[in-house]
Amino acid sequence: MDKTVLQDISYGMYIVSSKASKNVGCVINTLTQVTSENPIISICLNKDNYTNQVIKKSKKFAISILSEKCNPNIISQFGFQTSENVDKFQNAVYQEISGLPVLTENMCAYIICELIDVIDAESHDVFMGRVIDLKKLNNINPMTYKYYHEVIKGKAPKKAPTYIEDKKESNEEQWVCSICGYVHKGPIPEDFVCPICGVDASNFQKIN
Ligand SMILES: Cc1cc2nc3c(=O)[nH]c(=O)nc-3n(C[C@H](O)[C@H](O)[C@H](O)COP(=O)(O)O)c2cc1C
Repeated sequence: MDKTVLQDISYGMYIVSSKASKNVGCVINTLTQVTSENPIISICLNKDNYTNQVIKKSKKFAISILSEKCNPNIISQFGFQTSENVDKFQNAVYQEISGLPVLTENMCAYIICELIDVIDAESHDVFMGRVIDLKKLNNINPMTYKYYHEVIKGKAPKKAPTYIEDKKESNEEQWVCSICGYVHKGPIPEDFVCPICGVDASNFQKIN
């Protein structure tokens, strides 16, 4: 099966956040508007993502719509580590809205939802949320999944539904960033800094 066909599906980029005993959140691309009357949206979350468990407990979640001006560090912070053992909000600009932590800096808008259903989808769950509040924050272009891959040169980790394993394209030396998954082609200089998440060369592992 040629799974690259699925890469032609278009998505946006979002942070979903929630709170039970602590603030949690992660990057998602799988958000869809389901209805317009009393709007319902759906998001899809890996069962191993901590945010999944917390939304099931709190029964509510917030969405921040990323803009093209959003700092790529937000994506590495929220998309490549788990809220189970890291406070992802510690260095982030956020506001508490309806009891939820909501990222607001360089975000297009936020949406607050109450959970109305969870549908089992094998490795993932689909969460259906009733929109109870929403606000536009600025007019910057929303970041698309294509923009994230082609302009920011970002990757998706294994727990993202759209993950596709990288195929080796050549015998050229390659190094992968263990924090954000960025792949550097060619030998890695000692003073190298990851262009996505800003960590130094010691965080890179040789993969080819
Ligand atoms: C570009 C991108 C898209 C992602 N999309 C999803 C998604 O739609 N659903 C999902 O469950 N995880 C997705 N992820 C992975 C989660 O953000 C990641 O596993 C995160 O570390 C989970 O954090 P948590 O354990 O605090 O919930 C995505 C990550 C990236 C970088």
